[in-house]
Amino acid sequence: MLKAGYFRRLRFTRRLMVAIAGALLLFYGGFAFYTLSNLKKQVYEDFYARADYLMEIAVQANAQNMWDFDLSKSNQFAKSLAKDPVVSAVIFEVYDAVQNGGSFFTGNIGGIEEVRQRSPSLDVLEPEPDRYVFRKEREVVWESSVIGHAYLYFSDHPVQAKLEEQTASFVLALLGFLFLYLLALFYIFSHWFSRPFLGMHQLAVSLGGSLDKYRREMEQGDRNDNALPDLGKLLQQNDIDTHREDEMGDFIRAFAQVMQAFTAVASELSQRSQHVSKLNEELENRIQERTWELKRANASLQESLESLQMTQSQMVQQEKLASLGQLAAGVAHEINNPIGYVASNINRLKEYYSDFDKLFQVVEAHHDQLTVEIAAELDRVKKEIDYEFLKDDLPEMLQDCLEGSRRVQEIVENLKNYSRVDQGDVHLDFNINDVITSTLKLVWNELKYDCDVETDLQNTELTCGNQGQINQVISNILVNASHAIKETQRHGKVRIRTHSDLEWVYAEVSDTGCGIPQEIVCKIFDPFFTTKPVGKGTGLGLNISYDIIVNKHRGDIKVESRPGVGSTFIIKLPIAQRKAQPERPSSAA
Ligand SMILES: Nc1ncnc2c1ncn2[C@@H]1O[C@H](COP(=O)(O)OP(=O)(O)OP(=O)(O)O)[C@@H](O)[C@H]1O
Ligand SMILES: [Mg+2]
Repeated sequence: MLKAGYFRRLRFTRRLMVAIAGALLLFYGGFAFYTLSNLKKQVYEDFYARADYLMEIAVQANAQNMWDFDLSKSNQFAKSLAKDPVVSAVIFEVYDAVQNGGSFFTGNIGGIEEVRQRSPSLDVLEPEPDRYVFRKEREVVWESSVIGHAYLYFSDHPVQAKLEEQTASFVLALLGFLFLYLLALFYIFSHWFSRPFLGMHQLAVSLGGSLDKYRREMEQGDRNDNALPDLGKLLQQNDIDTHREDEMGDFIRAFAQVMQAFTAVASELSQRSQHVSKLNEELENRIQERTWELKRANASLQESLESLQMTQSQMVQQEKLASLGQLAAGVAHEINNPIGYVASNINRLKEYYSDFDKLFQVVEAHHDQLTVEIAAELDRVKKEIDYEFLKDDLPEMLQDCLEGSRRVQEIVENLKNYSRVDQGDVHLDFNINDVITSTLKLVWNELKYDCDVETDLQNTELTCGNQGQINQVISNILVNASHAIKETQRHGKVRIRTHSDLEWVYAEVSDTGCGIPQEIVCKIFDPFFTTKPVGKGTGLGLNISYDIIVNKHRGDIKVESRPGVGSTFIIKLPIAQRKAQPERPSSAA
């Protein structure tokens, strides 16, 4: 079965051919049907006419033999009549009244001979129905008397055979003619109709290809007008006759005209597009130049901004420290004097008390010699003031006051040390252990709830530098350690170890805090790098520490850390004998 889409997919010429062949088949089918029915009618009409004619001959020619009762002649005649292909059987009946009172039969076919011997009845003598199509019966008359009957059985087998033969030759001839006709039609179509179309199609494909190539070249910026299609050449290559005088010729000429106009437009367009491309290129170059300049300006602005931010932060930090230092120095100064005379007065008080005690001992020693009233009064007052307790407690109290004032003096001393930040770059010899001890006292409040502090301060060489700045470094490292331990939510440990060799003094601060993840270890000395919440950390502590140790003291600061285990900061400072080199220009890591 042909699918509906099949016809639509066929080329136009083939579709036309199929349509014409279909129409022709329909027409010739009708024609064949009509002709064949007529032929059949004609053949059968001839057949019936011949049957009439043969019947006529039978009754005319055999009447004499029947009258004479000449059976052999009659038989002979019947046989010769039966030779006709349309005759199946011939039977003559002679009335017995004429001669010897019995029917006489004669015929030419085996079946009838047999029946003749078997039965005298006429009915059963008829040949089998498939041997004939109809029977004709006529009375045989001799001199106006009916002397018998003639029965003729006709078969149309030969007629049918002839009809089939004629039909076959007719159909064959018709098909042959149709085939030749279609062949001629196909040739005409493909030569005059389809070929020019195919040529035009080929031309359009070539033109399309050339124009596409031209467009691509144009896109890449290589405008080459030679790449535009040459219409004349393409017409020649595709064997297209532009001088035809039929509709196809008109179409070809119109098509060529359109293509020429199109090529001209393409060339014009390409020219303009090239111009636009050039302008575009210039514009892009200019934009790029400007962008580059802007980027450069932006980068330099960014750099300036960062450096300004950095300087500002450092200034703020230093300002803060300086103010803190000034405050600390002021407070230290103010406290120093009163605490000085408080301490000295307490010492004096101790001496005075010991004098009074001596005096009282004398009075006590002569208690028996006092008058009864005076002794009673003395005992009453002793009791009233709880003399025994007072005697023991007062020296202890004075001792405690002395201890307290000594501690205040110590704190004041530490504050004074811390406030030495504002000493600028004054470098003095100092012992790192002193710095650590005084800083520990200052940050003790920060550490005491979260960790135990273990110190291993060895007898180290002196180092040279700004003690206030080193204080600041150590205090930042200790505060960082306490924050890191707090983060673990466990009680931790901070271990401070100092030692020295021939060149360097080392201070190592280890903690059991959260540790520093590998990916941020390299960033912790960067300015403003912090993992702490806003307000808790500025991210400047280690940056300033780095600046102080590396740039201002020609030393080194390193970190070793394992996340989840803890961190160790190692500070290295040159020993005092090896005077620090002049300071390098300040720039953090
Ligand atoms: N002992 C430590 N254990 C774990 N992380 C640390 C430790 N010390 C420093 N860090 C990390 O390094 C970062 C930078 O520290 P830095 O001291 O420069 O800034 P900060 O402490 O965040 O803020 P601040 O300016 O107040 O000191 C910290 O935010 C922290 O993530
Ligand atoms: Mg810090």
